[in-house]
Amino acid sequence: MRIDIVTIFPDYFGPVDPAGRVGEAGPLGVSLIGKAGARGDIDFRVHDLRRWTSDIHHTVDDTPFGGGPGMVMKPDVWGAALDAVLAEAAASPGAAASPGASLSSGASMSSGASMSSGAAVSSGAGESSEAVVSPEVAAPARLVVPAPSGMPFTQELAAAYAAERHLVFACGRYEGIDSRVVAEARTRMVVDEVSIGDYVLAGGEAAVAVIVEAVCRLLPGVLGNEQSAADDSFGGAGGAMSGLLEGPVYTRPRSWRGLEVPDVLLSGHHSAIARWQRDEALRRTAANRPDLIRRLATAADGLDKRDRQVLAEAGFPVDGETMAH
Ligand code: ADE
Repeated sequence: MRIDIVTIFPDYFGPVDPAGRVGEAGPLGVSLIGKAGARGDIDFRVHDLRRWTSDIHHTVDDTPFGGGPGMVMKPDVWGAALDAVLAEAAASPGAAASPGASLSSGASMSSGASMSSGAAVSSGAGESSEAVVSPEVAAPARLVVPAPSGMPFTQELAAAYAAERHLVFACGRYEGIDSRVVAEARTRMVVDEVSIGDYVLAGGEAAVAVIVEAVCRLLPGVLGNEQSAADDSFGGAGGAMSGLLEGPVYTRPRSWRGLEVPDVLLSGHHSAIARWQRDEALRRTAANRPDLIRRLATAADGLDKRDRQVLAEAGFPVDGETMAH
């Protein structure tokens, strides 16, 4: 998979080389996702939006039409950036699988480098802001624009993104990006405006870090244990925890500060353990996310008899019309 991120703060994602490849630090360079990047399974590219500005101050924003506070990001700069990133990715379709994408964190890595030396993408500042990529070339990529006004980012959407070949993230700042950028991009590719929660961040970078992590851990070979993604909170399709939050987990020692690991987990009785885990997941979901229980209660195969009994005992009757909370 190839992931391009366009931002005015490339430093947020750690050191970036002249081709936009990230180093071994920052949210894309560490842990299992960092290893997948180093193997070449994921080809991360981070681009400084200011490369596609055409004035001496590298201006990316302007005052909003209609008045109001704050600034709006300029469509001409974003249009040129997206055209160039899509064109470069289309010209190197094998990049995502190339082991040559592996990274080292040497002195050559510099977050400022991508701005001055446009090796991989386009010449940047001097480029015409009118350049347009043909629809055939741009079609395979999916554009994700994080915004508090977007649709909710969910595990389901993470799974859909994990099935894509190429994701491009456009990080907005200030009051957001001129709306024509998304409108124009939609004429040639799938575009999602996505929110990671009901709060307002200072920009899209943190949201991209969240989305990328949720997506990349679903890619084959990224998590050590293939089963663990299916058993997560929210579950994979058909997983035991489908639609539920994950319950409590324990490791050694069996007794710690007077607190014991539940006996059932030591019993070796697999079906009893699975039932206990589901009971705990139901209790936790009812306490923390009653909306998810409500959704399961209305799904044809969402809750069995035992589930309903557990929920009733926990003070969340879900039979018929009586639904607590
Ligand atoms: N940018 C600012 N706030 C955001 C949010 N809640 N989700 C995604 N992008 C954002």
